[in-house]
Order: sequence, then C-alpha cells, then structure tokens
Amino acid sequence: MPTPPDTSKTLKLERYNSYLRKFHSTKLINASSKLLFRATLLVALLLILFFTISYPPLSDNPHHRLHRHSLLSTSLFSVGGGAAWEKQVRRSSTPRRPNGFSVLVTGAAGFVGSHCSLALKKRGDGVLGLDNFNDYYDPSLKRARQNLLKKHEVFIVEGDLNDAPLLSKLFYVAPFTHVLHLAAQAGVRYAMQNPQSYIRSNIAGFVNLLEIAKATNPQPAIVWASSSSVYGLNSENPFSEIDRTDKPASLYAATKKAGEEIAHTYNHIYGLSLTGLRFFTVYGPWGRPDMAYFFFTRDILQGKSIEIYKTHDQKEVARDFTYIDDVVKGCLGALDTAEKSTGSGGKKKGPAQLRVYNLGNTSPVPVGRLVSILEGLLNTKAKKHVITMPRNGDVPFTHANVTLAHKDFGYKPTTDLASGLRKFVKWYVGYYGIQPRTKKETQPTGDESG
Ligand SMILES: NC(=O)c1ccc[n+]([C@@H]2O[C@H](COP(=O)([O-])OP(=O)(O)OC[C@H]3O[C@@H](n4cnc5c(N)ncnc54)[C@H](O)[C@@H]3O)[C@@H](O)[C@H]2O)c1
Ligand SMILES: *[C@@H]1O[C@H](CO)[C@@H](O)[C@H](O)[C@H]1NC(C)=O
Repeated sequence: MPTPPDTSKTLKLERYNSYLRKFHSTKLINASSKLLFRATLLVALLLILFFTISYPPLSDNPHHRLHRHSLLSTSLFSVGGGAAWEKQVRRSSTPRRPNGFSVLVTGAAGFVGSHCSLALKKRGDGVLGLDNFNDYYDPSLKRARQNLLKKHEVFIVEGDLNDAPLLSKLFYVAPFTHVLHLAAQAGVRYAMQNPQSYIRSNIAGFVNLLEIAKATNPQPAIVWASSSSVYGLNSENPFSEIDRTDKPASLYAATKKAGEEIAHTYNHIYGLSLTGLRFFTVYGPWGRPDMAYFFFTRDILQGKSIEIYKTHDQKEVARDFTYIDDVVKGCLGALDTAEKSTGSGGKKKGPAQLRVYNLGNTSPVPVGRLVSILEGLLNTKAKKHVITMPRNGDVPFTHANVTLAHKDFGYKPTTDLASGLRKFVKWYVGYYGIQPRTKKETQPTGDESG
C-alpha cells in the first residue's frame, strides 16, 4: 500500500499560501464586482436613454409621430443623426425648380441609382439617397459614386431598407412626393450562394418600404425596379408586358416576380401608385463589376481567358443590352407620368395607378458580338473559352418589346452597343488608371492590372 506523503513540514507554509490566495481573491472579487456593478448601471442607463429617446413609435397616426419627433428631432441620440444630419437630409431632398419633385432614391450608391439621382438633381428635383453599401461587389466603387453625388449635392443616408425607424424618420424629415426604389440584391448566379440576401432586400425590404410609404400622409408615388428575368423560361420573343411571367428560372427572378405581386397588393389595399420597370441588362460607365461586359473588359485587359456560354443546343446566347442613359430617361419618364397615390392615413380612398413596363433595347446582341466590340475598343485579343450554359438561372435569349413604354412616356432607346461600350471603356480605363493601348505602340504598355 502506498503511504500518504508526509505533509507536516509543509503545513505551515501551505496555510500561509492559502491565506494569501484567499486574501487576493476576495480583493479581486470585491474589485471586479464593483466594476461589474458600475458597468451594468452604465449599460442600463444607456439602454434606457437610447430606447426612450431614439425610437419613434411606429404609429399609423401621423400626428402622434409628428409630436414625438418635434420633441426629439434635435436630440443627438435620435434615429439617423442630429440636427446637422436632418439639415443635410432636408437640403438634399428639397427641389430647386417650381413644382419639382422630392425623390427618395433607394440604392443611390448603386449603378442605376447613382445615374438617376444625378439626372433628377440636374433638372432641379430634390433627391435623397439611401443605401446600405453592402459588399456584394467592391464597396469602394459605391463610395466613389457617393463622392460623385456629394459633389452634386446629393446626400446618401447609409442605412438598410429593413430599418423601419430610420425610414419613417426620413419620411418625416423630408416629405417625399416620389420614391425611386432601386435598392435590391441583384445578380442571378449569386442567389445560389446567398439566397437569404434576396429575401431580405427584395422581399422583406420592399415590404418595409411599402409599409412606411402607405402610412405616410400624403403617400408618395413609387417607381421601382423589377427585371426582365421575370419572363423566365418563357420562350416567346420579344417579351411583352402582357406575356406570362410565372416560370422564373432563378431565385432572383422569383423575388422580382414576388415584388410585382406585392406591388399589386399595396396598390389594391392602400391606394399606392406603383410602377414596376423591367430592366433588360443595363450597362455603361460606373457599371456593375458582376456583369459580363464589365468583367470581360477586366479579364481581357489582364490577359485572362473569358468564358463564353453556348446553349445546350450550341446556339449563341443573346441579350438586349440597354445603355444606362436610355434607362435613366425611362425612369424619369415613369416618374413624370406617375399619378398621385390616392390613400391617406393608411387607408385607400380610391383606385390608384398600377403599371409595369419593359425598359430594354430592341435589338438583342449575341455575346460573341459583345466580345468582338470589346476586343476592338481595348485593342486586345480575348482568350475565349466556350462552355455549355450551366443551369444557373440565366436565360439564353432576352429581347424587349418596348411599345408600351414608348406609348405612355415616349421611351425610345437610342444608344447601340458599340457606342455605349465605347463610353463604358473610356470610363473604365480612366477610373482604374489604365494606359490605353493604341494601334501603333511606341512604348511598352506597362502594368495594366485594374
Ligand atoms: N443592372 C441591370 O442590368 C439590372 C437588370 C434588371 C434589374 N435590375 C434592378 O435594378 C436595380 C438597380 O440595379 P443596379 O444594377 O444599379 O444594382 P446595384 O447593385 O449597383 O445597386 C443596388 C444598390 O442597392 C443597395 N442595397 C441592396 N440591398 C439594400 C438594402 N437592403 N438596403 C439598402 N440598400 C441596399 C446596394 O448597396 C447597391 O448599391 C435593382 O433593383 C436591380 O435588381 C438591374
Ligand atoms: C408589342 O407589345 C404591344 C403591346 O404593348 C403589342 O400590341 C404588340 O403586338 C407587341 N409586338 C410584338 C412583336 O410582340
């Protein structure tokens, strides 16, 4: 049997050590509990302050909201920002022309949103932007667009469509006559990676915006971006607004289709004036890096090979490419012909306008032609890699019938792909600081990485 170790010699020392340990730990406990108490008190106080001061009640009664806001609008803790922030919101959204609009542009740091904001501002309308600057693609491009807008005195509020207190505060500070709703999770392929982001922005976010808009008095008229993707597996071409849109081929398309149905509902129940615009592959300066014309340009310049899709029966994929200036004209035309919403105090008072339009170009271009135009403009041969289209929700052929938009607000696309791409490439090389390659090269081209 093992004998227990003789501890008698170390007993005194042991006791002393344990006394020291106890002493230290009680001191430590005392100190840390004091700290904990103080921290809890501070957090509790801050929380109470935050909730009592910053959140306006989401009441349908505008007078109630008005009262709360006038009491608290100068508070530093209020939603959005303080008095200086409110001044910026007001200044940006106030029109400079007689009977000018006051437009809330969601997705204003985005491609289409930034162009529309500038166009509205230039003709004297008031514009306030809203964008969450998410990183679906390089946010520095969104920041650069924001800087451009700032130079033209358009202020973009950084916030999410789903932030109800922020949205109702914006509607309180700036009585918008119109909303141009362009914020969305775009892209067809990314929906397989991050499906929830489509639900959050394109469905939940849209509903949140409509909820705030319907409760506002007077209600704004709303023009918003749907997509040509709603035509889905429909094979009749060109696509007309009366065609079926019940076969979406991607989650993105399904959320846009859902948006159109939700728009119908809010128009029917609350008398909101709603116009949906089905864009057909918009391109141009300040464009989106996730789109083919953009990354083809980048990859051709970097000497990387590009993937060109063929359909399963080896046909070329063709698209209706629509130049950004044509789309901007369409958006402004839709805003100009939008009738007022009819509801008030969250209640419908009569039938309101409900519309949907194609905004496309009327000549679909095979992707091979897109590539050869780019090769010419960049003076570089592309390394092409032809592959069969994966079943990723991209539809091989889109072509718009724009008769309706032409009839109702004179929409007429005027920019062909070659001229539009020339303007895009000019912007691209300038923005990324790339030395253009000329036909007669006199010196090495140097570093062309974007
Ligand atoms: N560009 C096209 O070819 C095309 C084609 C069909 C439809 N559309 C639609 O047109 C609209 C504009 O497209 P784009 O090409 O300018 O795209 P974009 O991605 O450049 O712009 C959308 C902007 O919305 C912002 N945003 C996204 N979710 C948000 C949220 N929850 N809250 C606040 N901001 C949010 C993004 O940060 C982005 O800046 C989108 O609704 C898109 O679905 C575009
Ligand atoms: C285009 O749409 C209009 C209705 O807006 C329709 O009358 C016309 O037949 C369509 N044209 C084609 C070629 O589909």
